[in-house]
Amino acid sequence: MTGPEAAALFYDEDRFVRRGVAPGWLKKTLFGKGGVQGLDGEAHRHRKQMFMSLMGPERVERLRAMTAERWQVYVQTWSGMDRVVLYDEVNELLTTAVCEWAGVPLAEPEVGRRTEELMAMFDRAAALSPAHLWSRLARRRAERWIGNLIEEVRAGRLKPPEESAAWVIAMHRDLKGDLLDRHTAAVELINVLRPTVAVSVFIVFAAMALHHYPRCREKLAAGEPGFSDLFAQEVRRFYPFFPAVMARVRQDFEWKGYRFPEGWLVALDLYGTNHDLQTWDAPDEFRPERFRHWDGNPFNFIPQGGGDHYVNHRCPGEWNAMELVKVAAGFLAKSVTYDVPEQDLSIDYARLPALPRSRFVICNVKESE
Ligand code: HEM
Repeated sequence: MTGPEAAALFYDEDRFVRRGVAPGWLKKTLFGKGGVQGLDGEAHRHRKQMFMSLMGPERVERLRAMTAERWQVYVQTWSGMDRVVLYDEVNELLTTAVCEWAGVPLAEPEVGRRTEELMAMFDRAAALSPAHLWSRLARRRAERWIGNLIEEVRAGRLKPPEESAAWVIAMHRDLKGDLLDRHTAAVELINVLRPTVAVSVFIVFAAMALHHYPRCREKLAAGEPGFSDLFAQEVRRFYPFFPAVMARVRQDFEWKGYRFPEGWLVALDLYGTNHDLQTWDAPDEFRPERFRHWDGNPFNFIPQGGGDHYVNHRCPGEWNAMELVKVAAGFLAKSVTYDVPEQDLSIDYARLPALPRSRFVICNVKESE
């Protein structure tokens, strides 16, 4: 299904459920078992509240500030490198930032390995073997790592800040008043770490946009008020990332002459809805200014799902994603200069997530005067 009306239908809880929707191979890689994605009704709402409590404005600002500091540090290293593969570097940068933000200790020698694990869960989940097998192994390792951490927190041997994801998830109680089991708690903490690292995909697309549309770079560099928000929204609308979400028909119904038999799987096309002509004028043109007139409808712009964040399965990390893209775009436009050498910037739409084939390479990186 595609388009805003279809999206509004898709998020009607009386029509669709999420239980048992993700195929086994995706649970063994991208999602994990027992996480919020597969819950319905009250159990979903209660678990979702836990995620939403981590995303208040002060927490989002903290992540923004921590990440901005890291851009300053990483750029020093990049200035000594012949060639910087932005996608790889940003995955690492975001791993270090989100672990600190979430109260997950990460010693320097572990950074490379943990980055690889968090990245493999979203970058190789849908790949053909053996990359897919590496993605499964990465999840098992990450669940062991984070499962141990949950136990350390509960035993009082590790005391992350009370507002951090590590603490909130370790101490969260379900509707019966019980702590989450070790495995489910690990899956949920990974549900914060993994997708935050995955914002690297949007950041690479933001860098592509700066390259292809120099007018945007100028506006960001000049600090035009409000432009970084418009730019980040257009990056999320224009480029492909998460192509579709799935649900199962709760019970038989008909809609616009289509039969929806109970138990059937339905996919909602996110990318198509973000390019739907009913809402978007010239959808295949990159025009950040279009967001000045966007009506804020929760079903016509759905790069991270639609509907209500508290009630539906809409992504709780939208504000974090926006801020991380804005930090990156501002930094690349204002604080550094670099060259973009000859490379294959065509987007590989056949992989998940879609990415430019070169992963965006830059060179001659220097801090701006
Ligand atoms: C990298 C950019 C991101 C994209 C493209 C993205 C996309 C999505 C999509 C499409 C959904 C499913 C919506 C649905 O099923 O209706 C989702 C759900 C979710 N996202 Fe994100 N997301 C991103 C970043 C984040 C971040 C930064 C976090 C955490 C801090 C996060 C945590 C989650 C969680 C926990 C869910 C499940 C929500 C639920 O089932 O109620 N995501 N995301």
